[in-house]
Amino acid sequence: MPEKPTTPTIAEAVAILRGGGLLAIPTETVYGLAADARNAEAVARIFALKGRPSDHPLIVHIAGIDAIEAWASTIPESAKQLATHFWPGPLTLILKKRSDVPDAVTGGQDTVGLRSPDHALTLSLLRAFGGGLAAPSANRFGRISPTSAGHVRDEFGENAPPILDGGPCTVGIESTIVDLSQNPPRILREGHIRREQLLPFLPDLQSGLVSASPRVSGSLDAHYAPRTPMRMLERRRLIEAAADEPHCVLLALDALPAKTQGLSLPAQAEAYAHGLYAALRELDSRDAAYILIEQPPSGTDWLAVNDRIKRALVGAGA
Ligand code: TXA
Ligand code: MG
Repeated sequence: MPEKPTTPTIAEAVAILRGGGLLAIPTETVYGLAADARNAEAVARIFALKGRPSDHPLIVHIAGIDAIEAWASTIPESAKQLATHFWPGPLTLILKKRSDVPDAVTGGQDTVGLRSPDHALTLSLLRAFGGGLAAPSANRFGRISPTSAGHVRDEFGENAPPILDGGPCTVGIESTIVDLSQNPPRILREGHIRREQLLPFLPDLQSGLVSASPRVSGSLDAHYAPRTPMRMLERRRLIEAAADEPHCVLLALDALPAKTQGLSLPAQAEAYAHGLYAALRELDSRDAAYILIEQPPSGTDWLAVNDRIKRALVGAGA
């Protein structure tokens, strides 16, 4: 067994970031691939390692509400209310950017995405570092987001940056993104924080992308994808398909049907989201002909999960 890599101390992590290096950081949603957001060369290293197109903007992670004004030029009252209520937490706010925010971070757009992650280690790091950290999910472009330090190592192998190991992510899927730079405000990506929770602050909140929306890479059709082809079926057809195709693995709800191989996740949206990416990674590693995924319920609490599965279905097998 290879020795478990050591995790840097906060002081070492700060030194890496000040030196323009990359660092994988834990958050409550997924692990991020972080660099000093004021250092365009460091930010360019994120794009190179991820293989991400350079016009896709990154979220800037900040210690809290007081740091918003270092990045945003206009701060609507609703942004202050949302940050007060939901930060630190899985909510990213898109605001008009200050002119000194590097284009490398915003993909040349006039807005910036800001969020304060709810993870004690990363909040300590942000306070010690004193600036903002540009960080996309720490996976190669289009692939499954990592929810543990081990996933980040698997993702990048020898090229993995130092990883601040904060244990498994508690939420397990990416933050909800709300665009407050336009009227009316709009949800650009579904996440753990649901529309109903935002409505008291944003009564005219819209959902879904419009053609003039800024680029959100999680909004590409193919994303979060395993290498194994995937199909989604409701339970009865899933069991039939599994009987016909012995080389498949299942991702079932609640309990794995008898005489099938695979994994099951709880039939409760938040618990399912928590385990989804780890389950997809595990099933992808089994070299099956197919991953057969049981269709989750369609209620509003399942929106974020169904969004991720839909995109994984499009990209799977590529
Ligand atoms: O939970 C999360 O949000 C995780 C953790 C690490 O914080 N981060 C994450 O980053 O999911 P990433 O890069 O994989 O997805 C961020 C999304 C992208 O789809 C990006 O296009 C969008 O946020 N985004 C960032 N800045 C934006 C902006 N100014 N306008 C519109 N979309 C933006
Ligand atoms: Mg991502």
